[in-house]
Amino acid sequence: MAPKAQLRVSDDKCNLFICWEDGHVTQSHVKRLRFHCRCERCLPSFSGMMPVDRDAFPEDMIIVKAFIEDEILHMEINQEAMENHVTTIPMGWLRDNCHCETCMTTAITQSDIKFGNPKEIPRVSNESLESKQGKFEFLRKFFDDGFCIVENVPKEHRAAAKVSRMFGCIRSTLYGEVWDVKNEVDPRNAAYTVFGLPFHMDLPFYEAMPGVQLLHAMEFDSSVQGGESQLVDLYHAADILRRESPEDFKVLCRVPVTFQTIDLIRPEPCWYESAKTHIEVDYFGNVVSILWHPGLEGQLRIRPEDEGAYYKAYVNFMKIVKRTELEYLFRLKPGDLIIFNNRRMSHARKGFTQSSGVRHLQGNYINLDDMKSTYMVLANQLGKKIAPPKCGNRSWF
Ligand SMILES: [Fe+2]
Ligand SMILES: [Zn+2]
Ligand SMILES: [Zn+2]
Repeated sequence: MAPKAQLRVSDDKCNLFICWEDGHVTQSHVKRLRFHCRCERCLPSFSGMMPVDRDAFPEDMIIVKAFIEDEILHMEINQEAMENHVTTIPMGWLRDNCHCETCMTTAITQSDIKFGNPKEIPRVSNESLESKQGKFEFLRKFFDDGFCIVENVPKEHRAAAKVSRMFGCIRSTLYGEVWDVKNEVDPRNAAYTVFGLPFHMDLPFYEAMPGVQLLHAMEFDSSVQGGESQLVDLYHAADILRRESPEDFKVLCRVPVTFQTIDLIRPEPCWYESAKTHIEVDYFGNVVSILWHPGLEGQLRIRPEDEGAYYKAYVNFMKIVKRTELEYLFRLKPGDLIIFNNRRMSHARKGFTQSSGVRHLQGNYINLDDMKSTYMVLANQLGKKIAPPKCGNRSWF
């Protein structure tokens, strides 16, 4: 049951203050209350439908009367668009959705990305994914740390794709649904060589870049020297940049980089380019998106007076991304499947020599939204109370 509350209407009659006895004060604009009426007539019968359009109401809507009866807020307004309608909202619902400064801060902080410990590599076994509890534990690690390794995945073609389908649909890209990362004779991409790969996120030029990447070690012979995987939480790096060089942080939020993949001689020619900022903050000033791929940058299209500041900020950020104390470093074993958040973690690979053995990874992408949906649904089914995790998909929670 919600705590007891007193109501106060602002002098201009546009705002209602719900003063709860425990000190919280929910201030709501009359339109917010009217448009979130919880009466039977106002709750949409089908998802996606509105009982009455919002432009049917007066622009100068005011509160005519507001009172609490039987734990329900009743509110009357001027020029109601529905006949004989009184806005009714259960006090419990209002309290659950309190957006006072304290509740808002709690909601944001709960959802915040917490930085993991690079000395600890999160792992689960493939067998554990057979149970709901096991899947939930895997997803908890994935959202807490930004990645998780699933061990003992059968070393079979499309085994990673099979695991993917537990969490969402496979996201196809210009590289197809499933791709093989191994040394090729005539590579069109650095991934298909033996060279080291610098820290990057995959495919940032897409309007919605793939949210989750899976890489399955089908073969990784012990005779192969090098080829270790590296990951860095870019949210941690951006947090350091913001604290150490606030001006550089602002520059990376303001000045756009151009990401591109233009290849007109591959079997299926492509021309992808997109100008975006490396860092994006939300309404509250919190980081909600980071893009990083030095290897896929095209010509800058920015004003000359921004170039000096841009490169200074860029190099500072790059140096932070390369700090060894932020780096998760590990070598995949055959059968290991690494699943990481491609909108949060930057990945890299050490170069390798391949005189006799083979290093063959198979990968695919899935959507972060599907992964998060699976996590929240499982939490609900298992009776776990968790805050929806912030995960780098441009949403503040
Ligand atoms: Fe990559
Ligand atoms: Zn209503
Ligand atoms: Zn509150």
